[in-house]
Amino acid sequence: MPRLLLVQASPRQGDSASRAAATTFLTRLHELAPELAIDELDLWREALPEFDGAALAAKYARLGGRALAPREAAAWQTIEAMVARLDAADLVVIATPMWNFGIPYKLKHWIDLVTQPGLAFRFDPATGYSPLLRPRPTLAIVASAGDYSAGPSWGRPDLATPYLAAALRFIGLGEIVVVGQGPTVGPEPAVAMARDRAHARLRQLAGMFAAALPQPEASVARAS
Ligand SMILES: Cc1cc2nc3c(=O)[nH]c(=O)nc-3n(C[C@H](O)[C@H](O)[C@H](O)COP(=O)(O)O)c2cc1C
Repeated sequence: MPRLLLVQASPRQGDSASRAAATTFLTRLHELAPELAIDELDLWREALPEFDGAALAAKYARLGGRALAPREAAAWQTIEAMVARLDAADLVVIATPMWNFGIPYKLKHWIDLVTQPGLAFRFDPATGYSPLLRPRPTLAIVASAGDYSAGPSWGRPDLATPYLAAALRFIGLGEIVVVGQGPTVGPEPAVAMARDRAHARLRQLAGMFAAALPQPEASVARAS
């Protein structure tokens, strides 16, 4: 059964523009691919392990080619499970607000946890960095108070879009599609127009994502 990992990065629930946009995308996708299983990772409801102590030591041990101590190995198992959860997905959707030009710290925390040597990327002094995860359709929805469709908003840059594109490309997810929605606050006509434009684009993208899903194996007719 194909799987989609939905990463929710807004702490808001009913009022969240990014969650509402993700719902629009998933509703259309479900119509087109009802067999798709959704694994929702709500970064504000699921406790992420701190990336310090034994877990961090394990990362440096792996980078340095040193064997892991038992405490490090135990911490590393948790990280391996997080990368496996990402890698199990055929499609990935990240729904996030823009916070202070970038992404909320919980989403950065998750990216720091899954961006691991030997699991998500490797380094070879001769060839440099290579990703280890396979490319797959990946969508990031970025909701913002400002409108960044034509560049900075009131002098504020959008660092969320290039950061997400670079971070996810680094681990191998491929060229991600980013749909910005802004403004999400301010005069209602402009907010409604931005919402309608983003949701229309997301319904269209759902068709492309559904088409990219692995096709179920054709059933083989058996002679009785
Ligand atoms: C801590 C914080 C920082 C924010 N920083 C920005 C920003 O740099 N640029 C911007 O356009 N909007 C910024 N906003 C506004 C949010 O991006 C906007 O309200 C968005 O709709 C939030 O997404 P959500 O509705 O899914 O929670 C910020 C909001 C918060 C709470």
